[in-house]
Amino acid sequence: MPKFERHIFVCTNQRPAENPRGCCDAEGLGSLQLLFKKELAARGLKNVVRANRAGCLDQCEHGPTVVVYPEAVWYGNVKSEDVSEIVESHIINNTPVARLQLADECLNTAVCPHRPPRTTE
Ligand code: FES
Repeated sequence: MPKFERHIFVCTNQRPAENPRGCCDAEGLGSLQLLFKKELAARGLKNVVRANRAGCLDQCEHGPTVVVYPEAVWYGNVKSEDVSEIVESHIINNTPVARLQLADECLNTAVCPHRPPRTTE
């Protein structure tokens, strides 16, 4: 079997509804990751691109969060209707979906304007 060329990590983390950070998979169904798997399989890509469930990717305020490696393209607010576009444009045609990409300045920083003040959790 060939090596995977890409991994699509889909956050499926859950938090209680009252948590100010929110979460990417409040229903706990993992449905977004399953849609990526289904889309990849339908396009004959399941042996070269893997869609994995991920724990919190620390971009909760932008969730549901998805990141594609090895190119480290981050997507936020991904909805089920975006899955086909991401696979078609990014995975097949090597053109990330700009409208869903998270700004570099919002990644891995405590000062992102979307991030609520941190509490001790
Ligand atoms: S809960 Fe999904 S990035 Fe944190």
